[in-house]
Amino acid sequence: MNVLVIGGGNMGMTYAEAIAKSNFLTSGSLMILDQSEEKQAELRASGLFDVHDRLTTCLPKADVVLVAVKPVHAPALMVEMKPLVSAGQLIVSIMAGVTIDTIQQGVGAKKVVRAMPNLPALVGLGMTSFTASDHVSRLELAAIEQLLGTTGRSIGLTSEAEIDASTGISGSGPAYIFYFMQAMMDAALKMGFSQADARLLVGQTFAGAVELFNTSTLSPEDWMARVASKGGTTRAALDSMDDNNVNALIQEAAYAAFHRAEELGKQTKGKEVANA
Ligand SMILES: NC(=O)c1ccc[n+]([C@@H]2O[C@H](COP(=O)([O-])OP(=O)(O)OC[C@H]3O[C@@H](n4cnc5c(N)ncnc54)[C@H](OP(=O)(O)O)[C@@H]3O)[C@@H](O)[C@H]2O)c1
Repeated sequence: MNVLVIGGGNMGMTYAEAIAKSNFLTSGSLMILDQSEEKQAELRASGLFDVHDRLTTCLPKADVVLVAVKPVHAPALMVEMKPLVSAGQLIVSIMAGVTIDTIQQGVGAKKVVRAMPNLPALVGLGMTSFTASDHVSRLELAAIEQLLGTTGRSIGLTSEAEIDASTGISGSGPAYIFYFMQAMMDAALKMGFSQADARLLVGQTFAGAVELFNTSTLSPEDWMARVASKGGTTRAALDSMDDNNVNALIQEAAYAAFHRAEELGKQTKGKEVANA
């Protein structure tokens, strides 16, 4: 199988590197295309891929095309791709808010997978959700699941509505965690800790809690019950959060991202693409 990654930026490079370092492809079957000369030089220097500077030399050879440019660049790219795309090719897009229908019409392909990765893909701990057009076979879908899973974990969903919903949970989710971390660091600084100590206290607390969660079947609620005893310090903090409706506010934030993802999808249909 030949794979072409279009766009060697943060995400494209992350996927290309992860695919190159996995056993997913035989050597020489991973191509990458970027429009910037500087980026091409950087990609060549890595020695991991077959680097291209124009679609004509790589797109016709690809079985799978992973599109990793910003949504704002999608319309121009799709116009360029259309005359070169053939019926058997499978297009995988990680562009936020660009719908399967927009891609099918834009490049003239039937087989399209839409995926939503997240930032921890950069360190191999990404969570990618994906869904596909009806024309993608089960076998192809299994291969794509493996391909996307090279950057962490992947989950197949049945509709684009679920992709928009997963954007509100895993896609945008890392920022909610950073928000919480920042709030705890701010509190630690106010309490008089140095920046370095606050960073250590907060970072290790998150890492430890996540490890407990991931290595057990207990729910977050179960873990809270284990750590908080009546009249104790943790109970005081959790009660304060409950009194301030923090759970409901976080849910509201996740829904805000979900609805924004839906809106972006509608906008891209009208070619008014946001810089997501
Ligand atoms: N970063 C995230 O956490 C995240 C999460 C979920 C989804 N995504 C999606 O991932 C996609 C990529 O994001 P990113 O942060 O990796 O963007 P990025 O760093 O800007 O990378 C995109 C790269 O594609 C190049 N490019 C643009 N148009 C091209 C064309 N026609 N042909 C070849 N190369 C082209 C750009 O070159 P120039 O710099 O010259 O324009 C740039 O090097 C976006 O659609 C975004 O919605 C990102």
